[in-house]
Order: sequence, then structure tokens, then C-alpha cells
Amino acid sequence: MRLQGKTALITGAARGIGLEFARAYIAEGARVALADINAEAVAQAAESLGPQAMAVQMDVTRQDSIDAGFAAAIAGMGKLDILINNAALFNAAPIAEISRADYEHLFAVNVSGTLFCTQAAARHMIARGQGGTIINMASQAGRRGESLVAVYCASKAAVISLTQSAGLNLISHGINVNAIAPGVVDGEHWDGVDAFFAKYEGKAPGQKKHEVGGAVPFGRMGTAADLTGMAVFLATDEANYIVAQCFGVDGGNWMA
Ligand SMILES: NC(=O)c1ccc[n+]([C@@H]2O[C@H](COP(=O)([O-])OP(=O)(O)OC[C@H]3O[C@@H](n4cnc5c(N)ncnc54)[C@H](O)[C@@H]3O)[C@@H](O)[C@H]2O)c1
Repeated sequence: MRLQGKTALITGAARGIGLEFARAYIAEGARVALADINAEAVAQAAESLGPQAMAVQMDVTRQDSIDAGFAAAIAGMGKLDILINNAALFNAAPIAEISRADYEHLFAVNVSGTLFCTQAAARHMIARGQGGTIINMASQAGRRGESLVAVYCASKAAVISLTQSAGLNLISHGINVNAIAPGVVDGEHWDGVDAFFAKYEGKAPGQKKHEVGGAVPFGRMGTAADLTGMAVFLATDEANYIVAQCFGVDGGNWMA
């Protein structure tokens, strides 16, 4: 019960990694507000986790939605100790085919969403005066560009940079900001990634997944459960002196 008495808001928690983080946090004694743009899915996800979970419909690209979502979570749980900026979109295209609309939408979710949810949490945590934890979901894709993945890679590089600046800015308030950079994690997200590579590299469905999984030094793709140890640890007092860092949890894919 390493998070007993703590409260957390996790964006993009209706499925995948965010949902698994919510499950792990509740198992460690926390109360969790699962926030997602998909109202029906997030309500079902929270329901499946029992009374320590609450659902918040939130679109991280809209300030009014962020304000209302944080207000609802703080009213429902009494306070906010931990934010995980997990909501994100992925897309892929050759440079010559990237659309401005796709670029702007992806950056609005992955980068603006991370910044303005961080701001909302920080304002509450500063006013409360008891510090807090913010964890940003980066990616190995933020460490290095990829031929077909320019926009997503750039957005995750921005998340790593925001983690550094926010970490330096907020640590004087006892608010600790760090990031996790997963490698390739199986789930609905990667089903979508696989479909992009099927389209642009002429691969059979499932082939890209098979290839990337085989290339991981650990020997397989990750699972959401592989990431929960780091997400819990970063929210405990044991991680208090770890500031503005980005940790690879990727089976050995990337040396940082
Ligand atoms: N799965 C991987 O291989 C992988 C690898 C590296 C990094 N990551 C990162 O980990 C995080 C979680 O990934 P995942 O695989 O669980 O993704 P996912 O696509 O399964 O889940 C993302 C969630 O975000 C929600 N969302 C989308 N737009 C939103 C918005 N505007 N406002 C609020 N919620 C919104 C979706 O409804 C969805 O529930 C993401 O930041 C992703 O970039 C994933």
C-alpha cells in the first residue's frame, strides 16, 4: 500500500496504459480519477475498478474541459497529489503527406494537453502547499526521429523537454515532475500503429508488431503491466530526489 491516502488524476485512462496505471495505483491504496475524452469508455473503466475510482470526461485540448475536469476530480477526491499526463494520439505519414490538421490535432493532445494539465495540477498543488507528483508519458520515439513518424516523435521530444522545464520550475514547490519513455507496448494503440505501417510499408497486418517485438532486447513487446512499477515508484516518497528525468522502460530498446 505504497500510495495509501494519495489521490491521482490520470488522463487517457479509459484503456491501455492509463487504465493499467489506475488499477495499479488503486492496488497500492490510492484513489484515482480516470479522465478521458471518451465518456462512455471511461465511465465503464472506472466502474470496473470499484469505489476508489471515479470517471471524469475531459478533452485535454480544451481549457474549459481541463478546468471542469480538474475541478470535478478535486471535488470528488478532496485533493490532488498525483497527475499522470498519459492521453496521446499517434499518427504516421511520409513528410510529403503530413496534413496540417493532423499535426495540429496531435500536438494539441500530446503537447498542449500535457502542458495545460500540468498547469492545472500545479496551480492546485502550489495553493495547497504540500507538493505533488507529475508523471508525463513520453516515448522512445521522443529520443530519436523515425522516417514515417515525424509528428509523433516531435511531440514526444517536446514532452521530454516540458518535463525538464516543468521539473526545474516546480521542484521549489515540492512538485516533482518526471517522465516515462516506454518502447513498444502491445494493446489497441499498437494495433493502430501496425495499421499505419501496413499502409506505408506494405506489410501484412500484425507483421510490424511481430518485427518490433522480436527486435526488443528483452525478447518481446512490453505490456502495460510492465510499466506500472515505474509509475508507482515515481509517485512514492522514495523518488523525492529524482527531478526532471525521463526513464526508459522499454526492455532495453534505448540507452539514455
Ligand atoms: N503503446 C505504446 O507502445 C506506447 C509507446 C510509447 C509511449 N506510449 C505513450 O503511453 C501513453 C498511453 O498509451 P496507450 O498505448 O495506452 O494509448 P491508447 O491509445 O490505448 O490510449 C490513449 C487514451 O487517450 C485518450 N485520448 C485521446 N485524445 C484525448 C483527449 N483529447 N483528451 C483526453 N483523452 C484523450 C483516448 O480516448 C485513449 O483512451 C501515451 O502517451 C502514448 O503516447 C505508448
